[in-house]
Amino acid sequence: MPERIFVAVAWPYANGPLHLGHIAGCYLSADIFARYHRMKGNDVLMVSGSDTHGTPITIRADQEGITPQEVVERYHAMFLESWQKLGITFDLFTTTNTENHEKVVHDVFKSLHDKGYIYTDNMLLAYCAQCDRYLPDRYVEGTCPHCGHTRARGDQCDSCGQTLDPQELIDPRCAICGATPEFRESEHFFLKLSAFEKPLLEWVEKQDHWRNNVKNFTRQFLRDGLKDRAISRDLSWGVPLPLDGYDSKRIYVWFEAVIGYLSAAVEWADQHGGSWEDFWKNPATKSYYFIGKDNIPFHSIIWPAIIMAYDKGLNLPYDVPANEFLSLENRKFSTSQNWAVWLPDYLERYDPDPLRYLLSINMPESGDSDFSWSEFVRRNNEELVATYGNLVNRVLSFTYRNFDGKVPGIQSLDEVDEGLLRAARETMESVDESLYNCRFKAAVTQAFGLAQEANRYLDTKAPWKSIKEDRDQAGASLTVAMQAINCLKTILYPFMPFSSQKVHEFLGFDGPIEEGAWDFDTIVGGIKAGADLRQPSPLYTKLDSELIEEEVQKLGIGASEE
Ligand code: MF3
Ligand code: ZN
Repeated sequence: MPERIFVAVAWPYANGPLHLGHIAGCYLSADIFARYHRMKGNDVLMVSGSDTHGTPITIRADQEGITPQEVVERYHAMFLESWQKLGITFDLFTTTNTENHEKVVHDVFKSLHDKGYIYTDNMLLAYCAQCDRYLPDRYVEGTCPHCGHTRARGDQCDSCGQTLDPQELIDPRCAICGATPEFRESEHFFLKLSAFEKPLLEWVEKQDHWRNNVKNFTRQFLRDGLKDRAISRDLSWGVPLPLDGYDSKRIYVWFEAVIGYLSAAVEWADQHGGSWEDFWKNPATKSYYFIGKDNIPFHSIIWPAIIMAYDKGLNLPYDVPANEFLSLENRKFSTSQNWAVWLPDYLERYDPDPLRYLLSINMPESGDSDFSWSEFVRRNNEELVATYGNLVNRVLSFTYRNFDGKVPGIQSLDEVDEGLLRAARETMESVDESLYNCRFKAAVTQAFGLAQEANRYLDTKAPWKSIKEDRDQAGASLTVAMQAINCLKTILYPFMPFSSQKVHEFLGFDGPIEEGAWDFDTIVGGIKAGADLRQPSPLYTKLDSELIEEEVQKLGIGASEE
């Protein structure tokens, strides 16, 4: 029976282009996972969208003297183009700026309000007299009361990961002008998180399949005690409150953005005639939330608390496979210092698959990892061009030239042939298991092991020599190698879909690769004697090591004071 898998991916703020850190954080792992499950014949719904509210958007609009709506439209279009070029296959990538989203958010809000899980109270808000405005949480900076980090923001400390309220900061200052803000009383809505401390803790303790970092962080967070949190703000940009008399306030961006996972499923169902309930209310459906580690508490605590409070039979997250951080040339990514490789720039100059490969084999999965241009070039040249690309190219071009563009076929198998096929079968099983458990780095490493093994097999068999004495034997070796390549194209597809589609076509198949089954016998049986092949061309391009210097030179140029 096919499984049903809901792939939920963090909603990027539509206030600037994405960089490689974002991709390594969650978009690539989510896409690998979705492609894998689709290939296994499972029912997948992968959604996300532009997070269009919150201060990141309004600040950018202020800086450029345009409306928040214009900011959002520009970057949303950019995201869509990047997904397409990088091959990130959302079933729906919407925005939090739709009528549907507002409707779903209002329904959740009202339901929680009716049950007393949302209540009003007065709170102190940071107000900067010099800027003449209420300061959004992240525009109050100061010293973290938990770890002493001096550049903590009012919503969160990036050093220890604790979520914060601005008035908890020691020595608060306005991030825009540096003045000391005053705290003014204002009426706001609060989410009664405290009511969910126990049920959440009980639930988290049962999640044995969660990654250690996610589980430990969540557990510690809950043990420190859950406080009720304000979920409205004095703003004019955002989702309005569903109650009269609060026109000058909006729903806090984090409260409504996480509801996007639900509203996006509803929107997808409206558009495609599918059933969102299948993905949300069937307890057999597993939902996976792909996020970066700075988003963990919102997905492992706040969103589950909202789902519990809503109490309409919606599934809690099955897993929250958060990645850690990627650094760039051993330094933290920084937008303001322009220490970043921007995705649109990358995609203009290079192919998507080498990046997908590098970020997979180097994924910050169980610890931080680094992207460097020298490693990019090295792995492209040594692993993609010389190992896998070369394997595919030498087998397919030699066969194409010497066997009339057709699969030669096999008279009989010897031990060496059987050894390679056994390795292929075992690799398919281990990659399957790794991907099923969200171990992406292990999966791509295992898959590459098979490419190396197939190269060794070819060196042993040397069909370019044996063809002179024993054409049948050479043909058999090439056919066995093609069977291994057909396995490789399958298990590497989630990582490098563009290359796999090419290999699929070189091997003579038509249509999208995804329709094929992840099944060893079918894949090996798919290479049939006498079947037509297509003329192959190189899968990857060797990169000149001069680009390393060039690319590294560009980093940090044009840094702004943002
Ligand atoms: N926009 C937030 C960020 O980039 C992430 C939102 S994820 C969601 O950090 F949960 F709100 F959807
Ligand atoms: Zn100020």
